[in-house]
Amino acid sequence: MIDSDTVTGRWDSSYHAPVLVEEVVGLFEGAKEILDCTLGGGGHAEALLASGSSVVAIDRDEAAINEARERLASYETSGRFRALRGNFGEIDHFPELIGRSFDGILADLGVSSHQIDADDRGFSFRPGALLDMRMDRRAPGTAADLLNTLDEADLSHIFHDYGDEPRAGRLAREIVRRRARKPMRLSDDLVDAIRGAYGARTGPADFARLFQAVRIAVNDELTTLEKALPLLREKLQPGGLLVVIAYHSGEDRLVKHTMREWSLDCICPPRQLTCTCRGKALGGLVNKRPIKASQVEMAINPRSRSARLRAWRKAA
Ligand SMILES: C[S@@+](CC[C@H](N)C(=O)[O-])C[C@H]1O[C@@H](n2cnc3c(N)ncnc32)[C@H](O)[C@@H]1O
Repeated sequence: MIDSDTVTGRWDSSYHAPVLVEEVVGLFEGAKEILDCTLGGGGHAEALLASGSSVVAIDRDEAAINEARERLASYETSGRFRALRGNFGEIDHFPELIGRSFDGILADLGVSSHQIDADDRGFSFRPGALLDMRMDRRAPGTAADLLNTLDEADLSHIFHDYGDEPRAGRLAREIVRRRARKPMRLSDDLVDAIRGAYGARTGPADFARLFQAVRIAVNDELTTLEKALPLLREKLQPGGLLVVIAYHSGEDRLVKHTMREWSLDCICPPRQLTCTCRGKALGGLVNKRPIKASQVEMAINPRSRSARLRAWRKAA
């Protein structure tokens, strides 16, 4: 059981306010060992530890690992918590995880509030921020690199596919035109290009959506998720639960389709007369529809408005 103040910020920190904590803890009730693929500020991890589970957690951002290790030091000392730096898309490459499986796996996708708030990380459109946006600062390719080197068609694809921008070509053309005179370096350069492409009436909502599209490309977030989902399923024990919280429609669609496909008995083409596939569902959906934040949580934590939680249980 978890008390009602879970929803009102008990697990928040100045680093990040986790969403749907009560729902996550409820879904994982009784799980002994949980893999948290997106540690962030450690809010979900702490709530799960407090409910009695042990947690191994991953983050590709060194700042998140340091923050959460400090917060969860007592659990680390007692051997119930361990933090590993790396990309959950490469879960099969972590030496510490070879041969291990879990009762529960959580992936709370996207970025933490800290990443957005820290100007030197370059995720935000606040004036003067360097266009960086890498979650892992060891990785090559900042947002500026991408905006200065991709061709017009690739830029257009990013704004269209990740930013739901119907007139993506216009922005791609504007960026290519501007960067020929002066390379893109600061948040202001991208904001000016957006205004140049779509007019002065564009505002923070457009900047947020189009900056998010660049962030998704810089961190290869959709491809990583697509590659990771089957690997995470493999890491589940029979009867184990995978919980994914997505904040972007493209990510949520991918999670929905993947979990649905895993839940079908037959995945042969519709006209094929004899079944030649696995012939048996790999597991089942816990909820038909995604779980969303309550009105109360949305009022307290606006970030929770776009959260969609989907859960899938592996066959026992
Ligand atoms: C929404 S935050 C997680 C917040 C966390 N649940 C909490 O309670 O504070 C997402 C975190 O996942 C990390 N992340 C995103 N994609 C990742 C990936 N492919 N591999 C590892 N970490 C990732 C980000 O660096 C960020 O810290």
